[in-house]
Amino acid sequence: MRERVVTGDPLPGEEPEMNSLRPRSLAEYIGQPEVVRPLHIALKAARQREEPLDHVLLHGPPGLGKTTLAHIVRHEMGKDIQVTSGPALKRPGDLMGLLTNLKEGDVFFIDEIHRLDAAVEEYLYPAMEDFTVDFVLDRGANARMLNFRLKHFTLIGATTMTGLLSAPLRGRFGLTYHMDYYGPEELRAIVLRSANILGAKLTEDGAQEIARRARGTPRIANRLLRRVRDYAEVEGDGTLHAQAADAALKLEGIDALGLDRLDRELLRVITDTYQGGPVGVEALAATLNEEQTTLVEVVEPYLLKIGFLARTPAGRRATHLAYRHLGSSPTPTAPVPPPHLQGQLAL
Ligand code: ADE
Repeated sequence: MRERVVTGDPLPGEEPEMNSLRPRSLAEYIGQPEVVRPLHIALKAARQREEPLDHVLLHGPPGLGKTTLAHIVRHEMGKDIQVTSGPALKRPGDLMGLLTNLKEGDVFFIDEIHRLDAAVEEYLYPAMEDFTVDFVLDRGANARMLNFRLKHFTLIGATTMTGLLSAPLRGRFGLTYHMDYYGPEELRAIVLRSANILGAKLTEDGAQEIARRARGTPRIANRLLRRVRDYAEVEGDGTLHAQAADAALKLEGIDALGLDRLDRELLRVITDTYQGGPVGVEALAATLNEEQTTLVEVVEPYLLKIGFLARTPAGRRATHLAYRHLGSSPTPTAPVPPPHLQGQLAL
């Protein structure tokens, strides 16, 4: 799989600096008012009652701040956090170890919770509901069931694919929030805040250039900011203005809308190889030599969001907007996206 600058997933080695950019309180958090406002109330109520917060499920595309919110909850509650992920919990024993270490009110964060093994998930149900776990010791005639009482913790589950979550698991979360892509104004404010922390001289127009290429995703915005900072320090006068941002990001193959080579290749395959579609994702993955899940979970969501791609029962189709962006003329049957998306090109 190729490494992309515009992926919402973390890239190897970038975590330490990115962590320093994470807001630590809800007051510092920019955007997502539909999550922040109700979460603020739930946190305040829990603190007033001196009770742990209800279990929270966060869903939405990668890079929008699900992990950040889990850390904020822990800070706002004044508790500790244990962080793990669905794929890391291979056996019930892995889960037991973490659960039994939790103290009253601690946050237990499970990223990619949709990828939990079914046997591990079963163990989570009584832990979430009654704060107990049963553990079978030994086998055969000597088998004994040990029942552990756990402290009242708050589980925060994060998923990019809420549809893949089993109904019993979904139903055990008291608070469920959807995180959506950020608007250009919010991203502009986020990169200005980050530049301030990093001590980089980012101008208003530089921030705007970065924001409109960040695919609605703070993690991408912060990554682009660092690339622009490198460029400005090496090739420019150290100031991160619009020209430096434009030149730096062009060098990375990122166009004015934040699409990279893989996005454009995917659209080109649909428009040129498959005459605009419809084409199945299996065929696209094979033609592009990419994993199907990468296309579905990472590449397509933003193209769907900006109305460049239409997903129909027969397969994917390129829309009028995609043709226009690629500089070619649409086929007569290319879908026309709804009017609210038509302005995207003028972001
Ligand atoms: N850095 C990354 N995401 C952020 C957000 N939503 N608000 C402030 N800073 C951020």
